[in-house]
Amino acid sequence: MVTATTDREFPLLRTEVRERPAAASAKEIRVCARNFRLWYRDRQALDDISLDIYSRQITAIIGPSGCGKSTFLRSLNRMNDLIPGVRASGEILLDGHNLLAPDVDVVALRRRVGMVFQQPNPFPKSIFDNVAYGLRINGLASNAGERAARRVVGAARASTHTLPRAGRPLFGRNLSGNQSPGA
Ligand SMILES: Nc1ncnc2c1ncn2[C@@H]1O[C@H](COP(=O)(O)OP(=O)(O)O)[C@@H](O)[C@H]1O
Ligand SMILES: [Mg+2]
Repeated sequence: MVTATTDREFPLLRTEVRERPAAASAKEIRVCARNFRLWYRDRQALDDISLDIYSRQITAIIGPSGCGKSTFLRSLNRMNDLIPGVRASGEILLDGHNLLAPDVDVVALRRRVGMVFQQPNPFPKSIFDNVAYGLRINGLASNAGERAARRVVGAARASTHTLPRAGRPLFGRNLSGNQSPGA
């Protein structure tokens, strides 16, 4: 478990890391942060994070708004690289390899370490095209890819009343749009 308190003057994040030992039977460490620090230009956002994340365990990062939860999560697949002025020190090991090393293939890394965002952020394309996108760019043969995407969209439509018609373009962040249930 990780807890954090926000320093009033800003930014930082006196982050206190507390770990509950994982069950003995499931102690495989997948991700291991060691003395990880991160700055947005000259503002330090994370200070000395050392933390193990276990395979097949749920790990929660809990703390007040602005304490650095998203910054830490974005570090796990190098999404912070996209923000100008970010620098980091320390190590984050994924299966024993430092994912911060300069020669890491970040595209391959992001295939392995995905993120589900708080807000959906679809491309301005149809639901079908959004679902099929990953399959298409990963070169899944078009027929197999299309069939897989249709299955996913069909299953999602069956389990929710909020998806708009699969072929309609989506704009903005609202998956349900203004469209009537099951439309
Ligand atoms: N792109 C950014 N540029 C500069 N500062 C940022 C950026 N993103 C986050 N911060 C700052 O880093 C700190 C941690 O933010 P964040 O990781 O979003 O916290 P949380 O997810 O816990 O709410 C905050 O002070 C925030 O203002
Ligand atoms: Mg956040």
